[in-house]
Amino acid sequence: MNVMKSFREVLSNARNVLILTGSGVSAESGIPTFRGAGGFWRKYQAQNLATPEAFQANPSLVWEFYEYRRRVANEAKPNEAHKAIAQFQNRSLEEGRNVTIVTQNIDELHQRAGAKDVIELHGSLYKTRCTVCHDVATNKNIPICPALEGKGSPDPSIMTSDIPKEDLPRCQKGNCKGLLRPHIVWFGESLDEDVLNQVSAVVENCDVCLVIGTSSIVYPAAMFAPQVAQRGIPVAEFNLETTPATRHFEYHFQGPCTVTVKEALES
Ligand SMILES: NC(=O)c1ccc[n+]([C@@H]2O[C@H](COP(=O)([O-])OP(=O)(O)OC[C@H]3O[C@@H](n4cnc5c(N)ncnc54)[C@H](O)[C@@H]3O)[C@@H](O)[C@H]2O)c1
Ligand SMILES: [Zn+2]
Repeated sequence: MNVMKSFREVLSNARNVLILTGSGVSAESGIPTFRGAGGFWRKYQAQNLATPEAFQANPSLVWEFYEYRRRVANEAKPNEAHKAIAQFQNRSLEEGRNVTIVTQNIDELHQRAGAKDVIELHGSLYKTRCTVCHDVATNKNIPICPALEGKGSPDPSIMTSDIPKEDLPRCQKGNCKGLLRPHIVWFGESLDEDVLNQVSAVVENCDVCLVIGTSSIVYPAAMFAPQVAQRGIPVAEFNLETTPATRHFEYHFQGPCTVTVKEALES
């Protein structure tokens, strides 16, 4: 039997579906992945700016980087893969089935496509956290504060960033005024324990799993799908290429996810 047909059959019998997504699902919306040609901003590798050390050393530079990323995400639109996932979830919910979407992305494109209760493993571009009182707040303003107006250009000839610290985004809670940071899990930081527990429960209970646009390199997210596969549960990987985890999975659909995911999930 055709492999896609076989997977669709498996999916149609599932009661609890886990959909795990990474930056590849948003690539065709124009949001670059880190592990690709688009992983640079100015002369920096994106991975070197998404760290607590980079923020400590130069919060102005890191805020410019995030101002840029917020602008890119704002201008992007959910693609056929985001839409197919959201429609599949809504359709399944009406049929009394569970579909849990767990994403490593911070761009909120799943939500904008209409997906519900998305679990964000790595936080969101549209949330801030106070470095003093730890308050988490939603902020969708562009620019995020007046001092970042027109800032964040990716032009590699721009060498420095020197917005005074007091003009960077500041906590609005009471009189705190502490320096805000993006509410994002940076490289070297741990995931929120509540979020991890929530995901573990889904990993334990799902009866089919889709892994879309993620290299399965970034831990701990990378272990979820192999963990599901180890229970003997069918896992389908959707990626442009094979990954270190491909050999653990029953299904591998190679190609742009706007095509493959749509084919797998359309009614
Ligand atoms: N859109 C976003 O929110 C965004 C973008 C970049 C990075 N990040 C953050 O940084 C972390 C690391 O990012 P990363 O980019 O190294 O992720 P990653 O290691 O998961 O790599 C992305 C994967 O997507 C695949 N891919 C690319 N385009 C695809 C397409 N059109 N269809 C199917 N697969 C495709 C690539 O082959 C690669 O395996 C992420 O976990 C995330 O938290 C988020
Ligand atoms: Zn505060």
